[in-house]
Amino acid sequence: MNLTDIQALDQQDPLAYKRDEFDLPPNCIYLDGNSLGALPTAVKPRVADLVTQQWGNSLITSWNSHNWIDLPVNIGEKIAPLIGAAPQQVICCDSISVNLFKVLCAALALNPGRTQVLSTQDNFPTDLYMVQGVTELLGSDKCQLKMVQETQITEHLNDSVAVLLLTQVNFRTGRLLDMKQLTQRAHDKGILVIWDLAHSAGAFPIELDSCEVDFAVGCGYKYLNGGPGAPAFLYVAKGHQSACVQPLLGWMGHSKPFDFAPLYQPAADIKRFLSGTPSVVAMSVLDAALDVWTDVNLVQVREKSIALAEVFMTLINAHDCLHTLQLVSPIAAEQRGSQLAYRHEQAFAICQALIDRGVIADFRAPDLIRFGLTPLYTSFEDIWHSVNHLLEVVNNKLFLEPRFNQILKVT
Ligand SMILES: Cc1ncc(COP(=O)(O)O)c(C=O)c1O
Repeated sequence: MNLTDIQALDQQDPLAYKRDEFDLPPNCIYLDGNSLGALPTAVKPRVADLVTQQWGNSLITSWNSHNWIDLPVNIGEKIAPLIGAAPQQVICCDSISVNLFKVLCAALALNPGRTQVLSTQDNFPTDLYMVQGVTELLGSDKCQLKMVQETQITEHLNDSVAVLLLTQVNFRTGRLLDMKQLTQRAHDKGILVIWDLAHSAGAFPIELDSCEVDFAVGCGYKYLNGGPGAPAFLYVAKGHQSACVQPLLGWMGHSKPFDFAPLYQPAADIKRFLSGTPSVVAMSVLDAALDVWTDVNLVQVREKSIALAEVFMTLINAHDCLHTLQLVSPIAAEQRGSQLAYRHEQAFAICQALIDRGVIADFRAPDLIRFGLTPLYTSFEDIWHSVNHLLEVVNNKLFLEPRFNQILKVT
């Protein structure tokens, strides 16, 4: 495979034109959209308008005149088609952690007599911490966390399990779990299922409704490009909504928030999962960022993601000196999300050396480098140059330089 072959792939790429809808700095190859998505160009004018016109000029009247109050619902409806959800089941609010707390409590209450929450040992820690927090709050007679290996989930599905809590794509390895099959097997045992879509939403097609998922949560800042700390979303299947009680009863989840009644009466629909005032600035950014998706076919996104990964792996395999990097992501495309993770004992320093050369990847302790593949703004030529930089860093042992070995607060 040579540069001409790679450039031909870019010429045939039906998504190539999307790159112009992102504001990427020059001389930068960004392979970290699985952590923080790039900046869509539409965001800047939206923020300027929000600050100067909506907030600056219209002040509080913007809650009505600019529909600030409807942002959680309207953004939820923009995310819904990206995750295979029919309308009125997705709402934008809070963070994944907070939303997990809400749906976990709601799911446990919907499955009385059962107390176990089954998850995986290497799930993203916040998911596991939230279950531990619910146990602290309700007592271990109402909630216990059981953690198993990813390969052993089905054999632990039994009558004690109330809720199966899974992240669809493992944040370290990029392994993709089979949503349809695991949801079905859990349901066969009377278990409700919560999926964390942090590394899935915007990365490939998801079919929450057709997989009959009960609850899901996901974030706005990765593949949805909603900016640092963007608000998250949650999904509750329509059939569960009226029976759901979530614990963070706030006025925005009330059926009539502006009646200011002392007693709580939940909204009849998905809005009962809201708690406090929406973060209008952050939501407006996410709202503008989501317009990038209006003409995007997620099947094409998936195809390009797989093709980018294949090129990356082929180029790595072509260089003997890169064999010190051990692929920990599944080789089979259908078992992988939209990232590749490699193990190397100098992973942190290699990552810093790459960043110094303008190739932004990231590190996960103790020894993983992750390369996020975001088909809307990553080209095949980016992959070519990234692997060449990696080759120079590893071949010349540039990672030994002290400046690439300084511990940082955020890795
Ligand atoms: C799988 C997964 N869940 C949850 C989170 C974090 O959620 P929060 O929005 O609460 O920070 C992350 C962050 O990267 C994640 O990868």
